[in-house]
Amino acid sequence: MLSYRHAFHAGNFADVLKHLVLTGTLRYATTKAAPLLYLDTHAGAGHYRLDASEAQRTGEAARGILQLDLAALADACNVAGAALLRAYHELVAPFLARGSYPGSPLVAAALLRPQDHLHLCELHPADYARLCEITQRDRRIRVEQADGFQRAVALLPPAQKRAVVLVDPSYEVKQDYRTVVRTLTAIHQRMPAAQVLLWYPVVERSDIARLCAALQHSPLRDVWQVELGLRPDAPGHGMSASGLLLLNPPWTLPTALREALPLVQASLGPAAAYGYWRVERLIEE
Ligand SMILES: C[S@@+](CC[C@H](N)C(=O)[O-])C[C@H]1O[C@@H](n2cnc3c(N)ncnc32)[C@H](O)[C@@H]1O
Repeated sequence: MLSYRHAFHAGNFADVLKHLVLTGTLRYATTKAAPLLYLDTHAGAGHYRLDASEAQRTGEAARGILQLDLAALADACNVAGAALLRAYHELVAPFLARGSYPGSPLVAAALLRPQDHLHLCELHPADYARLCEITQRDRRIRVEQADGFQRAVALLPPAQKRAVVLVDPSYEVKQDYRTVVRTLTAIHQRMPAAQVLLWYPVVERSDIARLCAALQHSPLRDVWQVELGLRPDAPGHGMSASGLLLLNPPWTLPTALREALPLVQASLGPAAAYGYWRVERLIEE
């Protein structure tokens, strides 16, 4: 039984970090002419109304994306961070103007080219149906109501020989913390050059410490950790931060994030005084 619905959380501070990192990754990946496969293991509904009752009930977008003046942040930022913030702004601005926010499938679809393909997995029947509806006219996209962990491993390596994989579970099943380690290890075995973005929430820091330790004891190489926190760790008091573990990220991304994240963090309201960001290499090449 799946109870998590991303409509309650779309556009929150965790989405901002995740979609900034996705934007930076795909912008770099698309500088090479060869086609690539984008694989979204937990795609969600793809598009969210910010005036819907779900978004209004939590107010998370109001404290996330709607809190940010991305154009002004880009103007105040150094070159690499500014380019990243501007690209994300150009992408989300048309959605925000219509009172909505794009999920990862539409972020990727906007950045990818005619020669690229997107494979989206979503298990929830209602979100799967919505995702099919909004992507049906895009011939680059295939949507599957299937377990994204299993499909990611089965679909790699792809005919395109290049792949970017977003692994974005909700962790409503505690088992997911172990499944992600198995999945990343299997992806790496099948396709060592795959670029993987694994999202995680900081609810219990011990879960993340165990996840990082497991990866450090795996065959994985060149793993970076990126995190944005609104407040210090607060076990038992909800999500205080979120992060991504990045396998084979573009070399340009750490610099861009180091420039952009301090400005993003400082803009995220009163909580910013207790917030933090980090961009560190977790496992050497
Ligand atoms: C965090 S949301 C995805 C958000 C989306 N990636 C974005 O950034 O816009 C996680 C989604 O995974 C779906 N889900 C849960 N378990 C799954 C599984 N094993 N395979 C595929 N989808 C799953 C949930 O229904 C939910 O819509």
